[in-house]
Amino acid sequence: MGSSLALFFFLSMCGLFSPSESHQKVSLELYYESLCPYSANFIVNYLPKVFSPDLISIVDLKLVPWGNAKLRANNTFNCQHGPYECLLNTVEACAIDILPQLSKHFPFIYCVEDLVFQGRRTEWESCFEKLDLDSKPIKQCYDGEHGKQLELQYAAETSALKPPHKYVPWVVVDGEPLYDDYENFLSYICEAYKGPDKVRSCTQASYLAEFKTKAKHSAFDNEGGMLTWEK
Ligand SMILES: *[C@@H]1O[C@H](CO)[C@@H](O)[C@H](O)[C@H]1NC(C)=O
Repeated sequence: MGSSLALFFFLSMCGLFSPSESHQKVSLELYYESLCPYSANFIVNYLPKVFSPDLISIVDLKLVPWGNAKLRANNTFNCQHGPYECLLNTVEACAIDILPQLSKHFPFIYCVEDLVFQGRRTEWESCFEKLDLDSKPIKQCYDGEHGKQLELQYAAETSALKPPHKYVPWVVVDGEPLYDDYENFLSYICEAYKGPDKVRSCTQASYLAEFKTKAKHSAFDNEGGMLTWEK
């Protein structure tokens, strides 16, 4: 009993005094919509790179599943890719709300978007089982008023963007949109980071950006071996 209580306090303290002070973290915001193939591609094939331990400890990642949806005057909304997109945006908003830890909600959103990317969007409920998550609270949320309120909040955050978003995915690092260079988001994070941690991935990330620039101007594209850098 005594030792589990001590462990509990130890864990709380680790949460309170994490090595990187939050004001030194780089903010990374992703404005997206669930059925946009470019959004799904970014979430499945690019964004996971930020989860290398040295990077994720210097980044505050925020996902905003609303995108190009439109609010009507009566506070109902229309989604770019139809009602199924509104459903999955709301499901993902509910996952973020019910599982506030990034390490809990990101795997779920990744799982759903991976299915979208593969053209298997209707199988999204399999993600509950795959990740051993209780579907009930999330279902209650997206079926009800709470899910709608979360989406209205994301609508407000998206429309408050300065400059306004032009398309999705819209990636913002420390308040600056990356426009169509969003796939290079790691380089921007490394550049924006002013904290004391040594971030090993940043040397690799700048190499990656440099390689991509070179690749545009040379025949590197066809050298399969170089593709290991994409992972
Ligand atoms: C909201 O407005 C749209 C048309 O703008 C209408 O089709 C819809 O039924 C309205 N919904 C509610 C709940 O009033």
